Amino acid sequence: MAERTLIETKGVSKRFGSLTAVDNVTFRIDEGEAVGIIGPNGAGKTTFFNLLTGLFPPTEGRIYLSGKEITKAPPYKRVMMGIVRTFQLVSVFDSLKAIDNLVLSHVKFSRQRSGMRFFLSSYRQQEILASCTEALRTMGIANKAETMTSELSYGDKRKLEIAIALSLRPKLLLLDEPFAGLSDGEIAEVLDLINRVKETLTLIIIEHKISRIVDLVGRLSVMHEGRLIAEGKPKEVLCDALVREVYWGKEEGLVCSV
Ligand SMILES: Nc1ncnc2c1ncn2[C@@H]1O[C@H](COP(=O)(O)OP(=O)(O)OP(=O)(O)O)[C@@H](O)[C@H]1O
Ligand SMILES: [Mg+2]
Repeated sequence: MAERTLIETKGVSKRFGSLTAVDNVTFRIDEGEAVGIIGPNGAGKTTFFNLLTGLFPPTEGRIYLSGKEITKAPPYKRVMMGIVRTFQLVSVFDSLKAIDNLVLSHVKFSRQRSGMRFFLSSYRQQEILASCTEALRTMGIANKAETMTSELSYGDKRKLEIAIALSLRPKLLLLDEPFAGLSDGEIAEVLDLINRVKETLTLIIIEHKISRIVDLVGRLSVMHEGRLIAEGKPKEVLCDALVREVYWGKEEGLVCSV
């Protein structure tokens, strides 16, 4: 079957005053692909996600989802179109039970879909609850559904955040440094869970350490000073002279083996 492009950017840039955070980035990902975006601090990775999710429009360039232009579509519409993200810093409500964090995000998007209607039909409520419970199960924390989020470990909060994203049934899941702040044991667990869910959707994952995602993604894009400086199969990218220069001294054990 021919590959279908899911999301595509054509020459997108984002400037904050005199700083060009994202600089003329042309990027595409096909349905079902898993792509990693790596790059040093301040490279523009999160800003690129902010452009894909519509937090702000690009200063220049265009964005397409399945061939349809979405450059100016607001964030909630993009969520409804299937573009869902998680944040670099875990972003869940501590004062709610785990399951309620999921239900809340559903109600939020359901309300936006149906104007200001507040009450949901009981059928819709059942449907939402089933989808939320399923997402908690997928992330291995179904037994924590009734736990106050404030009592969850940071690793479980990260899983909860990914569960919230999954419960919205994304076509494209964007994970911004999902291993940040986790212990080695938690990283192994979350990596394993992401490995499983990636079979069901299209994934873009931002990560600092190349070694963590080399076996997870089929393709790597390297950002540096707002620009994409290399793209390709992970092991080939690791051998790219410019990438090695940018990463020199930042990550040990980056072996070029092709
Ligand atoms: N809302 C904003 N206003 C002004 N400058 C911003 C804003 N967001 C990001 N920047 C700047 O844009 C540049 C790119 O930031 P960005 O957060 O996208 O980098 P990053 O690659 O995600 O870095 P990190 O690995 O540290 O998360 C940085 O210099 C940052 O300070
Ligand atoms: Mg970032």
